[in-house]
Amino acid sequence: HFEKVVQAKPDSIFGVQETYKRALATYKALPKDHPDAAPEKLPISLVIGAYRTAEGQPWVLPVVAEVEREMVGKENHEYLEMAGHVGFRNAAQKLMFGRNFPEVATIQTLSGTGALSIGFNFFARHTNIRHVLLSDPTWGNHFTVAQTAGLTTGTYPYYNSQHNSVKFEEMLQCLRTCDPNTLVVLHPSAHNPTGMDLTMEQWAQLAELFTARRTLVPFFDSAYQGYASGDLDADVAAVRLFTDHGLQVVVSQSFSKNMGLYGERVGALHVKCDSVDEKDRVLSQLAALARATYSNPPSYGARIASTILSDPARFEQWKGCLDTMTSRLKGMRHALLAALERRHVPGSWNHITVQQGMFSYTGLTAPQVAYMAEHHKIFLLPSGRMSIAGLTPANVERVAAAMEDAVTH
Ligand code: LMR
Repeated sequence: HFEKVVQAKPDSIFGVQETYKRALATYKALPKDHPDAAPEKLPISLVIGAYRTAEGQPWVLPVVAEVEREMVGKENHEYLEMAGHVGFRNAAQKLMFGRNFPEVATIQTLSGTGALSIGFNFFARHTNIRHVLLSDPTWGNHFTVAQTAGLTTGTYPYYNSQHNSVKFEEMLQCLRTCDPNTLVVLHPSAHNPTGMDLTMEQWAQLAELFTARRTLVPFFDSAYQGYASGDLDADVAAVRLFTDHGLQVVVSQSFSKNMGLYGERVGALHVKCDSVDEKDRVLSQLAALARATYSNPPSYGARIASTILSDPARFEQWKGCLDTMTSRLKGMRHALLAALERRHVPGSWNHITVQQGMFSYTGLTAPQVAYMAEHHKIFLLPSGRMSIAGLTPANVERVAAAMEDAVTH
């Protein structure tokens, strides 16, 4: 049966992380007195968008740890509904929109990717939409998830690498003239991979455009709420602005980064409908897609998130954790910029502190990135995207030195 199965291509992000892991395993297997076993040769991953502490370790948010401790022995392992945990769904919707809407269909999903998948499959099967426009560049998995759902993909102009700015006029022009019946994936904040977000004035212009072109559906992919400005409301202001315009927004929402629940797969998909009756029908189809794929979502992480979102004291504690994470990332951006400037590394690097969220689009080229991996055992994506979370006070000088070498050798 399997003779004709060909090897899948390595994932554009997890594939690089695998390369890093192999380098780390090789490093750890070296005899202690081997020249390549020196501490300054330890492989560094600036690959995956996952928060790390100043010591380079994964972080269980203290608020999450406390809720977990309280849950022990009090919960059972019964199935959730096909649409997921009711308390979680209501709380997640409120966090996204600032209030609950009777005409928003909300289904709990396997985090942001699961929300994108259910959303794209829903459009492919139940609407006349067959095409998705993604920002150029975007998170690599957007293409895969959309195409796997049977949609075709294209891009709209977004980032000018030469000037490290958003090509807003070109983006507008593309969206004014693109085919009707198209899903347009937008990043409300902490754009992945560039870290460059639109201003509120620009979002207002886009809301006007979508109001004038109702056949386009704005699909917000919100994976980093709270990570860009540190403010949960400000980071989804674009979603709320579009909703205020009466647009049928769709939102994929992830709690992987902002609650550090990566492996628990906690997220939601929201579809703003025009009536409660429409909402009921849409939700029934979303739940049917879930049933056909994984039956019903995992409950553990949703219960944690639901408790944090619903309890005012926990919610405040969570905001403190978000502040810890965003402050550290901002600090590392400044530390890297300062180190590059001290070294007079050719080029301008100011964009590193202008960009927001988990990533910096450094401007390093694919050959320079390959050089850093080969000669310095420092790994980032070939696009030059760096996960700022991988920087620590202990490694930032080494990263800056490697960047200098990559740029000047
Ligand atoms: C990333 O972009 O690194 C993260 O969103 C992790 C992932 O799933 O790719």
